[in-house]
Amino acid sequence: MEHITCRKSCDWDTLQLLDKEIFKDEAESRICRTTLWWLLELGGQPVGFAGLDDISEGKFRGGMLVKAGLLPIARGNGLQKRLIQIRDRAARKQGLTVNITYVAEWNYASANNLIECGYKLYTPQWKYGLADALYFRKYL
Ligand SMILES: CC(C)(COP(=O)(O)OP(=O)(O)OC[C@H]1O[C@@H](n2cnc3c(N)ncnc32)[C@H](O)[C@@H]1OP(=O)(O)O)[C@@H](O)C(=O)NCCC(=O)NCCS
Repeated sequence: MEHITCRKSCDWDTLQLLDKEIFKDEAESRICRTTLWWLLELGGQPVGFAGLDDISEGKFRGGMLVKAGLLPIARGNGLQKRLIQIRDRAARKQGLTVNITYVAEWNYASANNLIECGYKLYTPQWKYGLADALYFRKYL
């Protein structure tokens, strides 16, 4: 594989393009600018992205992993795990104590990657994801 870099990014145009190319009809109409985003580049070309929302409230200090997407050319190389780990580290650095997220139940690749990164299935108090979502949580 060519040289891979992963960095925080506010390059909204590139993030938006990747979102459209990877998630097609499920892409956001606009990339949320309150989310922290990371951009993954392969040989200098953007090939993936992932986001982290700070959802802290009161004494609760938590983050939510939002979206992780790779262009087909970059899949199958364990890069989603890298995107999960980088966001876990960033959340910990921000003083967050837990990260949560959800995936569609058919998305075995994402579910397995979350588990390999230390996430566990849990039942949230209210279901904030899709109808068929599996919910994951990791104490940081
Ligand atoms: C889900 C996704 C992020 C996984 O990322 P990844 O870094 O490629 O994950 P992995 O390298 O661990 O590979 C996971 C599985 O993908 C499959 N895979 C391998 N190469 C692949 C390729 N070139 N194209 C598609 N899938 C491939 C394999 O089944 C692999 O499982 P295995 O390790 O048991 O062989 C990526 O496929 C993707 O961006 N999909 C579209 C968007 C999406 O569903 N995002 C997650 C929800 S927000």
